[in-house]
Amino acid sequence: MIAPPASATSAVRRRIMSGSRPTGRQHIGHLFGALSQWAAYSQSADETFFEVADYHALTTGFENTAAFASNITEMVLDWLAVGIDPARSALYLQSDLPEISELHLLLSMIVPVAWLQRVPTYKDQIAALGGEIATYGFLGYPLMQLVDIVIVGGTTVPVGKDQLSHLEFGREVVRRFNNLYGNVLVEPQATLSEFPDIPGLDGRKMSKSLHNAIDIADDPETTTKKVRSMVTDPQKIRRNDPGRPEICPVFKLQTAVNAARVPAIEAECRSGELGCVACKGELAERLNLTLQPIRDRRASFDPATVPAILASGAARAREIATPTLAEAKRAMHLAPAIARPVGL
Ligand code: TRP
Repeated sequence: MIAPPASATSAVRRRIMSGSRPTGRQHIGHLFGALSQWAAYSQSADETFFEVADYHALTTGFENTAAFASNITEMVLDWLAVGIDPARSALYLQSDLPEISELHLLLSMIVPVAWLQRVPTYKDQIAALGGEIATYGFLGYPLMQLVDIVIVGGTTVPVGKDQLSHLEFGREVVRRFNNLYGNVLVEPQATLSEFPDIPGLDGRKMSKSLHNAIDIADDPETTTKKVRSMVTDPQKIRRNDPGRPEICPVFKLQTAVNAARVPAIEAECRSGELGCVACKGELAERLNLTLQPIRDRRASFDPATVPAILASGAARAREIATPTLAEAKRAMHLAPAIARPVGL
């Protein structure tokens, strides 16, 4: 466990918690949106908990679970590659913490169904993915996410802005629990990363399922080829046509990896001095420079070590999860009939 900074007391100390569904190799949208922030926290004095949310992956992917194991390994390798340090941060699998399932059940008793139905992602996802995913478990998605956070006493949750409604819902649940049973659960706070929206090759949000992503682990040639295929301002047809950087996904990526040159690129694009081919060439070069150390680090990790990393992360998380659950049960007057030592 990381020692708290000397000046901090346990009452004000932050505990960082976040998670991600194991979708396999992560893309640069994950990198600039969340992972770089997670890595910075991992290297800070804060305690950090990063969870592979395999139960959450089940909510939408229950019919197709065969790739789960390899998706988990690939995602953890990307986490390690970007600088999330398993010696400082607990990296663990959600399903390795039985306390999560138990607290989820307990909280399900006090959460009105209407609260879950009005979380915007619920209707949006059903509209996007079809009624098939409208399961009991899927409805509870934001509740399980809240449990992920409170089970380890997370105070600070670095996420993208699409997750804000889940955090708002979760805070209401915490307040309801604490009002009913006493002050047991910590109300978490979201923190947004600097680049919440990274566009994909086609200008829509970068996403594995839209097949418009540049993966962190893509080799330099693939990265360059993908950048060359990106859409730009459709009104900038010839090199010297004036462009509109504000609607151009290539420009948006420049802001992520080429900040020092952004004012010049913006001016040269608008004046028609800079053509899209040259702009993309420069972006590809900068992106490859940014990604190369990450690729090198990724290649230095043996995938066979991932299970041990996750096991030790789960053990660390359970040091907090087990007493948190016990306290919640005590607060709810669920006294165990059979005395059992805490930790079993
Ligand atoms: N819902 C998050 C997403 O889709 C993933 C997630 C699961 C999460 N559990 C969490 C994020 C706990 C923050 C905290 O990206």
